[in-house]
Amino acid sequence: MEKAKIAIIGGTGFESFFKNAKQLRVGTPYGIAPPLSIGSIEGKKVVFLSRHGPKHLIPPHKINYKANVYALHKVGVTRIIAINAVGAINRDFKPSDIVIPHDFIDFTKLRSTTFYDEAPVTHIDVSQPYCPEIRKILVENARKTGLKTRDKAVLVCTEGPRFETPAEIEMFRRLGCDVVGMTGIPEAVLARELEMCYAGFCYVSNMAAGMQEKLTTHEVHEICEPLMPKLEQVLIETIKVLPLERGNNCPCASALRNARCK
Ligand code: HPA
Repeated sequence: MEKAKIAIIGGTGFESFFKNAKQLRVGTPYGIAPPLSIGSIEGKKVVFLSRHGPKHLIPPHKINYKANVYALHKVGVTRIIAINAVGAINRDFKPSDIVIPHDFIDFTKLRSTTFYDEAPVTHIDVSQPYCPEIRKILVENARKTGLKTRDKAVLVCTEGPRFETPAEIEMFRRLGCDVVGMTGIPEAVLARELEMCYAGFCYVSNMAAGMQEKLTTHEVHEICEPLMPKLEQVLIETIKVLPLERGNNCPCASALRNARCK
């Protein structure tokens, strides 16, 4: 099977990345992941997976996160950059801003959030939930685009597929959340459970509920289009300098050390 160490998971507005790339179907104990595209960026093999499927037919609460993350693991991926459209809860954040979250709060309800349902009981450390090495490089390259880049943000993940109510958004704000999305979790957790690095690369598509008159799915898709070339540029520049081997600052590679009850 063809292997790659770096993966991009594309979200809303980012359903295709490599054109004419080799496609791979990968089965897992959790089901079959959407087609993976394997291509090359700056001489590095990169695999792309569209979490909503190539035609955006899979809603956030129906995504098979375990199959997706396991499939990437199976093709050799150790570092994931995950793109998410998010709504801004923090009043200073604005549509088109780039956000590289440093922490999350999980408000999902119905998702299977672990690979470790059986013994040995496994508790993964998420004191640093996103890979600091990938985050640093993403932030540096996002800043070069001229887009406002937020290098510290708490992302709250909701179950969806409906948008939130204004009262929910007010609650999230009081809890310290900066942005809201429907797909960041359990992806980040599952990646850590398999000792894969994971960083979110988010763009603000709208102000969250109660902060603008109403929300439409259309605008979430629309805002991405003009941003696309810059987001792609950030990805390419990040991949160019991202080391394939994990350094000492990365807690991801050794996530299972001391995580298991004997
Ligand atoms: N809420 C939840 N998910 C989202 C939003 C939002 O406002 N915008 C983009 N994804």
